[in-house]
Amino acid sequence: MCGIVGYVGNKPVVDILMDGLEQLEYRGYDSSGIAVMCPEDIKVYKAIGKLQNLRDKLRGHEKEFNTSTMGIGHIRWATHGAPTLLNAHPHTCNCGRLVVVHNGIIENYEALRDSLGVENELKSETDSEIIAVLIDRQYKKYKNCEKAIIESVKMLQGTFALAIIFDGEGDKIYATRNVSPIVCCKSEKGSLIASDIIAIGQYSENYFVLPEMTIAKITRDDIEIKDFAGNSVCPEILKLDWDINAGTKGGFPFYMEKEICEQPDVLRKTINSRIKNSLPDLSEDKISDELFENCTDITVIACGTAMHAGLIGKHLIENICEIPVNVYMASEFIYSNPIINKSTLVICVSQSGETIDTLEALKYAQKKGAKSLAIVNVKGSSIAMQSDYVIYTQAGPEIAVASTKAYTTQVAIFYLLTARMAYTKKKLNYEGVTKFIDELAKLPDAVENIIARKEEIHLLAKKLLASEHTFMIGRGFDYPSLLEASLKLKEISYIHSEAFASGELKHGTIALISKGTPVIALMTQRYLAAKQISNIKEVMSRKAEVITFAKKSLVTKDINCDFVLPEIDDDFTAVPSVVALQLLAYYVSSDKGLDVDKPRNLAKVVTVE
Ligand code: AGP
Repeated sequence: MCGIVGYVGNKPVVDILMDGLEQLEYRGYDSSGIAVMCPEDIKVYKAIGKLQNLRDKLRGHEKEFNTSTMGIGHIRWATHGAPTLLNAHPHTCNCGRLVVVHNGIIENYEALRDSLGVENELKSETDSEIIAVLIDRQYKKYKNCEKAIIESVKMLQGTFALAIIFDGEGDKIYATRNVSPIVCCKSEKGSLIASDIIAIGQYSENYFVLPEMTIAKITRDDIEIKDFAGNSVCPEILKLDWDINAGTKGGFPFYMEKEICEQPDVLRKTINSRIKNSLPDLSEDKISDELFENCTDITVIACGTAMHAGLIGKHLIENICEIPVNVYMASEFIYSNPIINKSTLVICVSQSGETIDTLEALKYAQKKGAKSLAIVNVKGSSIAMQSDYVIYTQAGPEIAVASTKAYTTQVAIFYLLTARMAYTKKKLNYEGVTKFIDELAKLPDAVENIIARKEEIHLLAKKLLASEHTFMIGRGFDYPSLLEASLKLKEISYIHSEAFASGELKHGTIALISKGTPVIALMTQRYLAAKQISNIKEVMSRKAEVITFAKKSLVTKDINCDFVLPEIDDDFTAVPSVVALQLLAYYVSSDKGLDVDKPRNLAKVVTVE
């Protein structure tokens, strides 16, 4: 969703802003804009659609901004008001002398507009423009930028990350936030801010998250932070722990393919650093056994793919640790009157760590007294900061909207949590837990085996190119993997796909199966194989076009197997099978000529409820 970038330093600003916005493109957007401090005034340039349109607009204006070294930029994912030039950010006030970019939602913008009596002055339909008007009013009153921003922010309700510049106040950017993220860094080229470190990580490996409800005054050589009472605030410095080149396509046509292929490595990183003497060890994540000893039940909260990782976690924890696990869609959680108490461990799963539904659900659970643990990919993100404990997946930056490596590393963390919890709660003895860990350590190789055979999957993908609908069937542990596979196919290929627990199909949906209907069948669970074979035969006898993915030892003459999955213990098949199905979705989308990395209507970071 919306993204912000800002720079003040000694280099031409426009290139830095445009590069930063390009790095934020993955968040999803439908218009963009920049505001640049030029010698005579602040110049604003905006465009609808792709960033290239903004680049095209800038062409020919170079003389205006050639010498400029300060500015702010924005990509907008429309919420309040259509993607139009007037609604695009930056928003200006006072004849362009005050400029604001905003990420988030201002819930009381109508009330503010009415109380300020400015309905006729506003040029856009957004909830954001009112912020510029409000700050301008306060600036005229206090004649002080910081005071004007602080007094305005006190009146805002909702979520916001703001970057603000004033003409005539020197080369300074002001930034403040509530919930929506802002990270900052300094380098020899100057000071930078952005919604995500990926936009500015190339300038410095040290960065910090701007603490909520503080104000940053950003100049070329310094970033000064104060709370709203005027006290200095010293934020925690974080270190980038991935190679900045990880944010490039590295020769692949799409980020998604690159990220799928990175899975063996990132799984090794995520798993191996947490195994010591053949035992799962979470001490570096500062998670003590006490957390598991004291918990009687677990609630997993997440959205989309991250929730599917939670379903895999439920299967593992319930089977091995014998603790009840509820998995909630974060968007439903606070409205479901969930049964949680002080002995519930709430596990929030999120790649971005910024999904607003998950964040709100986490805060709600904390108010009910639950202990919280976050499984997050982005360091210093809101969910990571809010949670009592955090385990970082070491997936590196995930740019493609369709989540792949973040998902499998989330699942890997669930394996580690299960192992440690089972050991702590004496559900697995030393031999049991080391055997479990040995199996876990085989996952990266199993995934490598699948990636090495990706062209086999590419051929199978051709069978789906002309389809409008597909169904996916599997039993037990395979079912959540198919929910994830089905989401992957839908979001990037626009083919309608539904996953079913195979036994459920005949309770209605089998009515939709007719000659040629594609059905993807997954079979990795030995104890369910006979039943799955008979479910596959049911759809075959209705002339469905079945594509079967089966574990090597379960391949039988009774049904055709189209892709043989590597032999691995039943409890560990969830990772290799999903990687095979990620590739299937990927090839369908790329062979259809679609924009695999940026599917229509979707945003990578979902910061609105
Ligand atoms: C998956 O491919 C999606 N893009 C989506 O379902 C995603 O997993 C969901 O929006 C949650 O995001 P998060 O992990 O950043 O919280």
